[in-house]
Amino acid sequence: MLDYILELLQNVSGPLIVQLFLIYCIAFLIGYVIKLRQKLTLSIESGGGGGGDGASLPNKDQVLNLIKTRRSVMPKDLCGEVLSDEDLSYLLEAANWAPTHHKTEPWRYVAISGGKNMLDYLEFLEDWYSVNRENLTSDDMTKFDKKYQTLKSLLPANASHLLVICMKRKALPDKLLPEWEEICATACSVQNIHLAVTALPGWGGFWSSHTWCKHARDSKQFKEYLGLEEEDRVFGAFILGKVAPGRKFKSTRGPWQDKVIMRTNNE
Ligand SMILES: Cc1cc2nc3c(=O)[nH]c(=O)nc-3n(C[C@H](O)[C@H](O)[C@H](O)COP(=O)(O)O)c2cc1C
Repeated sequence: MLDYILELLQNVSGPLIVQLFLIYCIAFLIGYVIKLRQKLTLSIESGGGGGGDGASLPNKDQVLNLIKTRRSVMPKDLCGEVLSDEDLSYLLEAANWAPTHHKTEPWRYVAISGGKNMLDYLEFLEDWYSVNRENLTSDDMTKFDKKYQTLKSLLPANASHLLVICMKRKALPDKLLPEWEEICATACSVQNIHLAVTALPGWGGFWSSHTWCKHARDSKQFKEYLGLEEEDRVFGAFILGKVAPGRKFKSTRGPWQDKVIMRTNNE
């Protein structure tokens, strides 16, 4: 190939500038072809955005099996082992590949690990409830206190990480989406984590919406504590950990046929 190009150039008569221009054009063409080949290979390997042969992807049974095997595992069923940094990165990489209208990528996480950091998180919530006690009902306070006492011992002992689930409103300053689209993208990101953790043998977790501390969760002070701005949102936390030996989990769903209206008959 190179010989052919050199021979071609030797045969081109004319000023140096024309020869240089020809060399430039040939180099540009070669670069373009290499890039195109790389792009095609990548798109085939990743399933071509839905149109490829899918050779390296899990098959239909494997996908459905992963989806159906995903379970909500509560802190009482976790054993305290800590997830490696490598596996945490894997989960966050999965989280980062959620669908996102206009590519605003609104999901944000605060990853908390270690007894001291978890207690710091819980104590922030407790302080908030103490300071705001007068504006809350006794029912709110009782519910909070009960759950706080349980979690104070359970989370540091059993959970590996809390991934506080946040949503950045208007993450791209020039793209104002309806809030519901940003909420949905964030929920898709959480589901990615949940499916990805299901593929890690022995690990699990669940989405805690933090209803027990909902007044603090939605407060301006909590958003500040998490490094967010006032219009951003907090949707609780994904609590992660290693499942204690011998635990089994079940779940059921009603038939999809009860939730779908079919208008597919063209006759
Ligand atoms: C947005 C969202 C918030 C949730 N919040 C809680 C929660 O605060 N407490 C809880 O026990 N489960 C919570 N869950 C988990 C559900 O309870 C769980 O998905 C349901 O029991 C079905 O179990 P499965 O996930 O194993 O199929 C939440 C789930 C979602 C999608």
